[in-house]
Amino acid sequence: MYTASDNRYNNNSVRHAGSTGLMLPPISLGLWRHFGSADPLSERRKVILHAFDKGVFHFDVANHYGDGQTGFGTSEELLGQILKDDLKPYRDELVISTKAGYEIHDGPYGIGTSRKSLLQDIDDSLQRLNLDYVDIYYAHRYDDQTPIEETVRALDDIVRSGKALYVGVSNYEVPELKQAISLFKKLGTPFVLDQMSMNLLNDHVETSGLAKLLEDNGVGAIAYGPLCEGLLSDRYLNGITDDFNIHRTNTDLLDKGQDALVAKLNKLNDIAKNRDQTLSQMSLAWLLKDPVVASVIIGTTSVEHLDENLGALDNLKFSADEVSEIDGLIRG
Ligand SMILES: NC(=O)c1ccc[n+]([C@@H]2O[C@H](COP(=O)([O-])OP(=O)(O)OC[C@H]3O[C@@H](n4cnc5c(N)ncnc54)[C@H](OP(=O)(O)O)[C@@H]3O)[C@@H](O)[C@H]2O)c1
Repeated sequence: MYTASDNRYNNNSVRHAGSTGLMLPPISLGLWRHFGSADPLSERRKVILHAFDKGVFHFDVANHYGDGQTGFGTSEELLGQILKDDLKPYRDELVISTKAGYEIHDGPYGIGTSRKSLLQDIDDSLQRLNLDYVDIYYAHRYDDQTPIEETVRALDDIVRSGKALYVGVSNYEVPELKQAISLFKKLGTPFVLDQMSMNLLNDHVETSGLAKLLEDNGVGAIAYGPLCEGLLSDRYLNGITDDFNIHRTNTDLLDKGQDALVAKLNKLNDIAKNRDQTLSQMSLAWLLKDPVVASVIIGTTSVEHLDENLGALDNLKFSADEVSEIDGLIRG
């Protein structure tokens, strides 16, 4: 039987989602890729429990995550198994989030954020997760086929029914985020986070005005894909391999070709070395220097990588010279 480490909160500060009371660990664990029914449960269990032992008390899934077309929902099932078998005594310490909006089953209600979809999806997610409530429930994407008022009202009703404590949105850009904020405010919904693609080489959240909008309204940003599919680690410093699969939000990084990108990664790695950090550690620290970022959600199947990434928390400060050097590289 699993017993959590007594030291799990020793080295970890918490961060608030905007000006709300929702507290998160600076580094959270996401279960998007390689945490489905085709993956070894015992290996994934080790990573999840090791993370919790190290103070990572936030786990992020979505109803869509799993093994592609045949496996939607299976990441929730995998986490649900571990929540039932190992983490049940710790439920009050955990922040579990899930999302709906991408494809989950056939038919018009298997995708999108209509009232009918969301109200059914939350029940299905809770069943797979073996939970009575999730801590954060997200609209996974902006659905332009459903009036935003309907999506916001359905999320608000989910909170009022006790099935979620807080709500968030993901992949919302400035126009829809502005509308959502105003509607959530009218309803008094505990709207706490926008989950966005953010990494050292992708400053869209800042340059688009999203960061300012979130900050002005006391809402947090939570970064997904902070290592850019492993690009911001030592994995591709000698070249990008054919199996590399870039996320749709980062494709412009390849505009100047793979060699230019690898050269940039090596320059960033040199800066990281001068800070006594690995590239992945510096990349996570870079995001966490911004107070609007409530947490960064990493994805890993490796206990070693998890520990390496948590080492980022030992140095979150950047000198003015480091900032200007890194800024120059990002924009170059
Ligand atoms: N809202 C959305 O639309 C959305 C979209 C994408 C992701 N997300 C969320 O964000 C989470 C993380 O996304 P992501 O998986 O793209 O995150 P990521 O951490 O940027 O990338 C994960 C990749 O980096 C590798 N990696 C991690 N640490 C490493 C290290 N120290 N050295 C070398 N390689 C390392 C992992 O391989 P190993 O397994 O070998 O460590 C994996 O291939 C997801 O699980 C999901 O919860 C949300």
